[in-house]
Amino acid sequence: MIIIKNLVKKYGNFCALQGLSFEVKENEIFGLLGPNGAGKTTLIHILATLLKPTEGGAIVNGFDVLRDATKVRESIGVVFQAPSSDDMLTGYENLKVHALLYGIPRRLREKRISEVLKLVGLYERKNDQVKKYSGGMRRRLEIARGLLHQPKVFFLDEPTLGLDPQSRDTMWRYIKKIVKEEKVTIILTTHYMEEADMLCDRIAFISNGKIIALDSPSKLKQEIGGDIVKINFIDKIPSTIDFTYFDFVHRVEQNQKSVIIYMDEVNSNLHRLIKDLDGVQSIEYKKPTLNDVFLKFSGDSLSGDSPEGGFMQRYAQYKKS
Ligand SMILES: Nc1ncnc2c1ncn2[C@@H]1O[C@H](COP(=O)(O)OP(=O)(O)OP(=O)(O)O)[C@@H](O)[C@H]1O
Ligand SMILES: [Mg+2]
Repeated sequence: MIIIKNLVKKYGNFCALQGLSFEVKENEIFGLLGPNGAGKTTLIHILATLLKPTEGGAIVNGFDVLRDATKVRESIGVVFQAPSSDDMLTGYENLKVHALLYGIPRRLREKRISEVLKLVGLYERKNDQVKKYSGGMRRRLEIARGLLHQPKVFFLDEPTLGLDPQSRDTMWRYIKKIVKEEKVTIILTTHYMEEADMLCDRIAFISNGKIIALDSPSKLKQEIGGDIVKINFIDKIPSTIDFTYFDFVHRVEQNQKSVIIYMDEVNSNLHRLIKDLDGVQSIEYKKPTLNDVFLKFSGDSLSGDSPEGGFMQRYAQYKKS
């Protein structure tokens, strides 16, 4: 559905996209993840024909973003990072303006407006001014608007930015429903790893305008190297210990007083790991999350200096007598 080839975007001397190449399949939810300034919005703007690439190119729904920009625009819907509905108009009026701009034929217009309003759960509130909507409702209205002309590709730039956990959850359900009912391909950006994990079939991590990883969420998590165990020692790490001796251990990182071990099946193997250890203060473990993948690729270490070292799930306070 989308083919991106050697895409470069320069703003003056600054290179925001440094030669991206990848493809997005039909009916896929594809996530663009990466730190602030990575180039995600720039990429979406190029694919939506709002910006011209400096080098390289892209095909969207079979149309070239440079040569067939009008066809590309007819093929896509976009929800921008910054809100863009008219506060003074009602939800319905916002959609009607958009329908007129897109030249949706009169006989289809009302039916389609009702359809998308129902799709995002706003039909009952369609005659309220948008300024009376909550943040989540505004975001959903923008999604309805982006879908009005039945695009084949739908770009969502941070669709749940600023929403509370419940509204975010609601939004996820709508996004899943949209893929099923509207048969669109979705490209979304987000800073919420849980969201990407929950929604995306595949994810590209972008950093400094380059793709540093691209795969399904489960494969990306596997790449971290298994379950993660952190053993904190009361004093120094005993010098006689070599965790790499165990065949289920993939990788070991050491701080002064703690060891981080990437291993298979912590539930069945932990007892072997700690059987002969002295001076253990506590043990924490967790399954890798996309957050770990993000931190790994953005250069941070899981063994960071924070008190918890990024560990969210405390496994046990373990004191050996
Ligand atoms: N119009 C512009 N002129 C100059 N530099 C720009 C322009 N737009 C974006 N940039 C720069 O390009 C880089 C990529 O910006 P972009 O908005 O694509 O990042 P992003 O990944 O969407 O970030 P965020 O997660 O904060 O939304 C940034 O360093 C940004 O400052
Ligand atoms: Mg952005």
